[in-house]
Amino acid sequence: MASVTYDRASCVFPGSTKPAVDRLSLEIKDGELLVLVGPSGCGKSTSLRMLAGLEHVDSGSILIGDRDVTGAEPKDRDIAMVFQNYALYPHMSVAENMGFGLKLAGTSKAEIKARVDEVAELLGLEEFLGRKPKALSGGQRQRVAMGRAIVRKPQVFLMDEPLSNLDAKLRVQTRAQIAELQRRLGTTMVYVTHDQVEAMTMGDRVAVLKDGVLQQCAPPRELYNRPVNEFVAGFIGSPAMNLMRLPIADGKVSVGEIEIDVSRETSGATEIVIGIRPEQLVDDGTATGLELEVDIVEELGADAYMYGRVEVAGARHQIVARADWRNPPARGARVRLGFDVDQVHMFSAVDGRRLE
Ligand SMILES: Nc1ncnc2c1ncn2[C@@H]1O[C@H](COP(=O)(O)OP(=O)(O)OP(=O)(O)O)[C@@H](O)[C@H]1O
Ligand SMILES: [Mg+2]
Repeated sequence: MASVTYDRASCVFPGSTKPAVDRLSLEIKDGELLVLVGPSGCGKSTSLRMLAGLEHVDSGSILIGDRDVTGAEPKDRDIAMVFQNYALYPHMSVAENMGFGLKLAGTSKAEIKARVDEVAELLGLEEFLGRKPKALSGGQRQRVAMGRAIVRKPQVFLMDEPLSNLDAKLRVQTRAQIAELQRRLGTTMVYVTHDQVEAMTMGDRVAVLKDGVLQQCAPPRELYNRPVNEFVAGFIGSPAMNLMRLPIADGKVSVGEIEIDVSRETSGATEIVIGIRPEQLVDDGTATGLELEVDIVEELGADAYMYGRVEVAGARHQIVARADWRNPPARGARVRLGFDVDQVHMFSAVDGRRLE
């Protein structure tokens, strides 16, 4: 087991002027499960592949433990990677698939069998060891791919969207199993996903990337409660935080009937971005704040959300708010929503950075 350090590591692909990964600095602790998350094309896979040695590093360095592996061959890094399209060998049994890496490494037959049996038990794959991959379900195949990585007892696991081939229910189950397994084995893991819910539920810490640049790396709760900028605020949380760009007059911003003094945060600025999470907008019957005209009501069973428009300072904003699931409003209804000023997030209208 080992820690992982990215030290201002960049990767620029030939023919491109912009780095795919731009001076990434990140310290992943020994035994930690770190999730890399961000929109498509933000550099998640490239970051992971740089760590695996499958992509070049143009500047900066990467360490596993104390060892600088920036120039090391993939096979010398003692890592195991599970890809999105984990190809199992179709002509080999589950046991042979799992043991193949060990066989290549010259491990004895007895040792391979012992390790495969141990990991099969861990993953609940004992009864499938003799089967070919085509006789397995998607979830079982995914576990075999995991097993193939685990039997090698690497210092670090790298996972690149390993669950994207699974249906929604199986994905939720399997992500819980992976997180549990990782904690049990105590092996450092870097896990890539574009799904922020997956990131938030699995990670000890979550690193948010945008356009190759690390935005914030923090435990899930901190990311949710104190996003460092407008991008992270909008990316983390489902439904997303309501973000409204509003004018400042006399050091104050009016959010419907509620006035917030922002003179300390925004000396001289003419606009500010106000962020309010859907669950912070409450309709308690007496609320003062915003009037929402409801366009859509989404009922999810234990939760309900209403989507609609509010008018603030002469401009219309799309808003989502949590509704009472026992008594959701009808489409077309007008609902008064209040909120707690202390829970409002504020961001610079110029560069999106969080204002305290
Ligand atoms: N081999 C390559 N040659 C040139 N450009 C590449 C190459 N691989 C990736 N890129 C570019 O680098 C950027 C980052 O790609 P990367 O695959 O790391 O994104 P990602 O965050 O994993 O996205 P996704 O969620 O879609 O998998 C993208 O703009 C992509 O087009
Ligand atoms: Mg990718």
